[in-house]
Amino acid sequence: MAKNKNNQAIWNTRIKKQSSLFQKIGNSIDIDKRLYKEDIAGSIAHVEMLFKQKIISFKIKNKIIYGLNKIEKEILKNKFEFNKKYEDIHMNIEKRLFQIIGDEAGYVHTARSRNDQVITDLKMWMKSATKEINKQIDKILKSTLKVAEKNIETIMPGFTHLKNAQPISFAHYLMAYVEMFSRDKKRFFNNLESLNENPLGVAALTGTSFNIDRYYTTKKLGFKTPTNNSVDTVSDRDFVVDFLYSVSVCSMHISRVAEELIIWNSDGFNIIKLSDKVVTGSSIMPQKKNPDLLEYLRGKSGITYGNLFSMLTILKGLPLSYFKDLQDDKEIIFKSYDTIINCLKIFDEILKNFSPNKNKMLELANNGYITATDLADYLVKNHTMSFREAYQKTAAIVNLAEKRNKKLEELDINELKKIEPKLTNEVLKIFDLKNSINSKKSYGGTAFDNIKKMILKYKKQL
Ligand code: ARG
Repeated sequence: MAKNKNNQAIWNTRIKKQSSLFQKIGNSIDIDKRLYKEDIAGSIAHVEMLFKQKIISFKIKNKIIYGLNKIEKEILKNKFEFNKKYEDIHMNIEKRLFQIIGDEAGYVHTARSRNDQVITDLKMWMKSATKEINKQIDKILKSTLKVAEKNIETIMPGFTHLKNAQPISFAHYLMAYVEMFSRDKKRFFNNLESLNENPLGVAALTGTSFNIDRYYTTKKLGFKTPTNNSVDTVSDRDFVVDFLYSVSVCSMHISRVAEELIIWNSDGFNIIKLSDKVVTGSSIMPQKKNPDLLEYLRGKSGITYGNLFSMLTILKGLPLSYFKDLQDDKEIIFKSYDTIINCLKIFDEILKNFSPNKNKMLELANNGYITATDLADYLVKNHTMSFREAYQKTAAIVNLAEKRNKKLEELDINELKKIEPKLTNEVLKIFDLKNSINSKKSYGGTAFDNIKKMILKYKKQL
């Protein structure tokens, strides 16, 4: 067995004079020390399997596990010295294992390589990270549902092109966010399928001649099945891309909602109010209350997309199997994870600290001939004409209202009759905003009853 002199990297038996510059920058310990728990759990499962398969003795297995547990405690108590010289978390731990239990530590790396070790650690870490993200998304969903529940009958203009389109319930808008974040949750959840494939045991790239039991470590480490092909396993980072993509989509959703709330909070719109908890002041303009946190959220998608593209670019054209290029995956993942967790937490804070400006919403909803489509629909239903004909008649009515500088409901019935003689006073009820909203009873539409049912459905799920 190679002697392990304290001052050397473990693989330093043949490489004597590595450039000090590379030693300084080629290590990843500052990043991948975050995987220590998974690395230790992976090693413990590995040696238990080696013992079960009669590859190592009972005594050695126990010694190694004793050492690994001790190392974990040292790390937890901040008593472990992470050393850049030993490159990464795997080597730092193995090195310390030698110091604690002596040369028998040399058995821990039987039938494995850092190539399978690192992705085993990473996949385990990402499984927990995925669950944590989904927990945070659940909080967002709950907070959104709470605001929605209180605002079923809050009327606002629904927008297309940021122009008033049709009256809508504010809760219906909020329930759109519930859909978006539920899809995010599903996307993260679906990633668990590939994260549940255990890489441990494929060794450097070919598998191993030792009689290992990959199903045993799979079960021990909470995976579902071992990966199928050793070359693919050490080369594959699709699961990283999937994760980064899911983070990107989630942060894109947050960014869109943030932008929407920034617009609604602007002095021009003024249809929502942010509490002091989530605004900042200006260093020069004393009157200002700025939606800085929302802007933070809007901007962060730039970071998460960048991370996704970094990883895709690293992988582009990279032949099989393992290359050092892949080492950067972890830094990228950790950054994206930290970013999305922060964003989700801040977004939850926003959801708990904003309220609709109901009067202003209603006032805005009364502008822009917002019930024109309702009128066209009414003409189709009651006057047996095609939708296109009704559309044209309604456009003429809107033109008239615009010319007279009146709202639709303020037009004189005799004037309306000039455009469509069959119209009676009854048409005026069509211009009622609440009526309009409640007429949208089609599945997924904004009628109050629909929203109530949808809120209930999601509340039951959570
Ligand atoms: N720190 C390395 C990484 O993150 C571990 C794998 C090293 N393997 C190797 N053959 N150099 O990718």
